[in-house]
Amino acid sequence: MLFRVARSHKGKEITHYDLYKVDARKGMTVLDALFQIQDYMDESLAFRYSCRGAVCGSCAMLADKVPILACRTQVSSLKEVSSKLKPFTALTDTPLGWNAETEILLEPLPNLPILKDLVIDMTRFYDALESLKLWAEPAKGEESRIQSPAERKKIERYVDCIMCALCFGSCPVNAEKEEYLGPAALTKAWRFYEDSRVQDPKTYLESANVPAGSPLCDLIYNCVKVCPKGVAPGGAIRKMKEL
Ligand code: SF4
Ligand code: FES
Repeated sequence: MLFRVARSHKGKEITHYDLYKVDARKGMTVLDALFQIQDYMDESLAFRYSCRGAVCGSCAMLADKVPILACRTQVSSLKEVSSKLKPFTALTDTPLGWNAETEILLEPLPNLPILKDLVIDMTRFYDALESLKLWAEPAKGEESRIQSPAERKKIERYVDCIMCALCFGSCPVNAEKEEYLGPAALTKAWRFYEDSRVQDPKTYLESANVPAGSPLCDLIYNCVKVCPKGVAPGGAIRKMKEL
C-alpha cells in the first residue's frame, strides 16, 4: 500500500510530498501505518498521537482529503469513506501526481498552522476555548453542587468532546475567517448554558455571542459529519443562534 505524505521541513506550509510503501496488514490503522514509516523508512516524519484509542484527540489529520482520527481509522476502510463535506480549498486541492486509486494521501488538518509535517499548532483552537471562560465558578463557601442523572444526560453529548479539532479543521468558516472561535469552543459554551450546576447560564450565551463567535457560524454542519464522538456541534450552535 502506497502512502503519499505531506512534508514541511520548515514548518508553516506543505513543501512537498514523500511516497512510502507500507506493508498493510488486516486491521491496520492509519496511525499504525505512520509508525511503520517512522520506524523503518523515515525517522524524520513528524505526527502527533498519545492514547491510540480515540480518547486524547491528538491524531487528527486529513486522509484522502477526509478529516479523520488516525488511530481509529483503518487503512482498509479509507477508500470507502466519502466525507460529503461542503468543500473548501484544503479539501479540494490535490497534489500533483497523487493517484487517488492506488495511494493514500495524508496531510495535516487544515485551518491551523503547520508546525512540521502532520503536526499542527493548536494554539488558536485552545485560545478560542480559553477566551470563552468555560468553567463554572462555585459560590462563596460552596463545596459541591449535586447533579441528577437526568441533568447529566442533558449535557452528556457535549461533555464527550475530546478536543481533537476535527470540527475546526473541517469548517469552511474557519478556513475563511481566522478570528472565528470555531465549533468546539461554541459548543462547550452551550454545554455550560445547559449545565444544571451553573448559577448564571446566560453569561455563557453572551460570551459566545461576540463578533467572532456564534454569529459567524453559517450552519454548514461539516462539524457534525466529522466529529468522532457524536458531539454534533452544529446542532448546539443552531440552538444558541436561535436564542
Ligand atoms: S466537537 Fe467533536 S470534532 Fe470538535 S473537537 Fe470536540 S470531539 Fe473533536
Ligand atoms: S492517538 Fe489519541 S485520539 Fe488518536
